[in-house]
Amino acid sequence: MTAVTVRVPAKVNLQLAVGPARPDGYHEIVTVFHAVSLYDEVTVSHSDRGRVTVTGEGADSVPDGDGNLAMQAASALARAAGLPPRRIPRVASDAAADGAGAVAAGVAIEIRKRIPVAAGLAGGSADAAAALVACNELWRAGLSHAELAEVAAGIGSDVAFALVGGTSVGQGRGERLTPALVAGQYHWVLAFASGGLSTPEVYKACDRIRAARGFTVSPPRPSAGLMAALRSGDPAEVGPLLGNELQPAAISLRPELRRTLAVGREYGALGAVVSGSGPTCAFLVTDAKRAVDLIVALTGAGVCRSAVRVVGPAQGAVVVSPSEISG
Ligand code: C5P
Repeated sequence: MTAVTVRVPAKVNLQLAVGPARPDGYHEIVTVFHAVSLYDEVTVSHSDRGRVTVTGEGADSVPDGDGNLAMQAASALARAAGLPPRRIPRVASDAAADGAGAVAAGVAIEIRKRIPVAAGLAGGSADAAAALVACNELWRAGLSHAELAEVAAGIGSDVAFALVGGTSVGQGRGERLTPALVAGQYHWVLAFASGGLSTPEVYKACDRIRAARGFTVSPPRPSAGLMAALRSGDPAEVGPLLGNELQPAAISLRPELRRTLAVGREYGALGAVVSGSGPTCAFLVTDAKRAVDLIVALTGAGVCRSAVRVVGPAQGAVVVSPSEISG
């Protein structure tokens, strides 16, 4: 095998409850992750030295060296699998910088992006998850799903979810997953903003706003109402129960999002929410036709850079055959 391509979905958060900051700097959260049909594709192949190339949506702002999450994932997988440096050559800069035996992957990684960068859609985490699955295959490393999930959790809070996709409740910092019972398929419009938001900045803004309001932060809890609505499969029940406690923080940093959400609601969305740390807004609609109408309304009102129609829940990271690979 000389190359493996994996397709991996974006996520939206149907609920995001934010608890107190932990000593490690992360916040304790409860979130309902929902994978949607907006995909990146990651191809890995053997190479003498580590190399990342990124094309597509937002490619210019994705690091193409060791700072790339997909490259970090490949390195972490090589370490976890105990692959000898001889078989997985080191990235030149790593070999010079660390004598500690960290194995960096000698692998070429090509990322074809459709998921916007720093958009609250976990695009970087998705690419890392795809790299884990692809390298596991390329190197015949033989890690189980559970072992891959453990490696994933060490790379970022959303990486483990991108492996499994579907709809799951995430706890801890988001990496501890429990599948949710969900009926039916949901139609969404994602409204992309110009530029991104930094996740740490949004969490910091959330802490600031809460402190200024004298808000007592209690442990985050799953929404029983939302879970029941998801089991019913009725988007009209789910829509009003979408919620994101990072939304006020995202809006404080990007006030124009308030209007984006308002236009979506005005033009028939059953629910409207900032996804994760934003700035992407997710709108739940009844069906594909309503989704198209809403895209026209949002773009016509000039409240987003662009908008796309997706469905969820979508499958997690999956190896695709060469015939399915798009250019
Ligand atoms: O884990 P990930 O790399 O996605 O997180 C990026 C940053 O977002 C963290 O360094 C932290 O500042 C913030 N974060 C947080 N609480 C979480 C997840 C992320 O504070 N549960």
